[in-house]
Amino acid sequence: MIISLVNHKGGVGKTTLAINIAFYIASKDQKVLLIDADPQGSVLQWQAICDNNTFDVIHHPKDTLHADIIELAKDYKYIVIDAPPSNLGINLSILLTTNLAILPIEPSPLSMWASKKTVALIKNARRHNSRLAGHFLISRRVVGTALGRDVREALDSIDMAVAKTEICQRTDFVRSLKQGLSVLQYAPSSEAAKEISRLCDEIKFDASYSPKFLTDIKRNIHDYKVGVIEKRQHPRRVPSVAVDFAVQGRAYRGFIHNISVGGAFIETSESFVVGTKITMTFVSSKDQKPIKITGEIVRSGPQGIGVRFKVAQRDTMIKAVTHES
Ligand SMILES: Nc1ncnc2c1ncn2[C@@H]1O[C@H](COP(=O)(O)OP(=O)(O)O)[C@@H](O)[C@H]1O
Ligand SMILES: [Mg+2]
Repeated sequence: MIISLVNHKGGVGKTTLAINIAFYIASKDQKVLLIDADPQGSVLQWQAICDNNTFDVIHHPKDTLHADIIELAKDYKYIVIDAPPSNLGINLSILLTTNLAILPIEPSPLSMWASKKTVALIKNARRHNSRLAGHFLISRRVVGTALGRDVREALDSIDMAVAKTEICQRTDFVRSLKQGLSVLQYAPSSEAAKEISRLCDEIKFDASYSPKFLTDIKRNIHDYKVGVIEKRQHPRRVPSVAVDFAVQGRAYRGFIHNISVGGAFIETSESFVVGTKITMTFVSSKDQKPIKITGEIVRSGPQGIGVRFKVAQRDTMIKAVTHES
């Protein structure tokens, strides 16, 4: 089973939770690998403090994780992944392999707003990884406040489960990590340790996922690639149209080379992070009317980028660019 701690916002407790969850599973005599996918490598630093070897740790901050995992995971039943903040490519790659994504969220409006991006990414990844479950986890709640309840109500409108257990703001979490320990080793009877145990019992790390999971990942990767190439049975139409496009608020210009129902290839020397949104504007070769369409970058190479259109917009696209009616 692969459990990931994800949230584009930093400081919500991803690394703290990844270490403690990995330790909890390892304490049940299970072989656990913690993949530190954050370029900062905080887990490695933690492990080096006192050479904590209760579970294995590797640093692998790459957006090819979904392909590499087959090799990395082969000796383990349980894998915990500590995701980086704000790196879309790595986060998407993590979610393509994950069974359970835990999204820690602090009980504050800022944290709620920031989580929307991660929720959107989880939904996106589900199109390729149908086994991906997601759970919000209220984290760093200040003891004695009812803020957790407020957040819970606010989260009601989002279509994702919320763990019953809440993780509070507790100094034992900080102190234990400083010493290179899990809170379950440092202060086994503390409230912090109880919260981790309660969380892990609630989530029921289900080993029954695991015997098949490598096959599932292979299928996910295959589905993902099929998605990237976007079903070549859709005939390619009208090549070489100039296109203005915007990515993360910056404007670029290129040429559309292949347009299909599902997507297009844009010739450009710029490279972009796979998974990023793109808005394209070009003139219809049929009636010279401007067309605006949005999509997602699914491939980026030296020749240009592969773009997948939003499903809802594909019909408009076809009507606008084909010479057949
Ligand atoms: N439940 C908690 N109680 C107290 N401090 C916490 C808790 N969770 C995280 N922290 C502290 O907050 C900071 C950020 O936590 P971290 O786990 O690194 O978050 P992230 O990985 O999401 O950036 C760290 O200094 C950590 O010790
Ligand atoms: Mg972290």
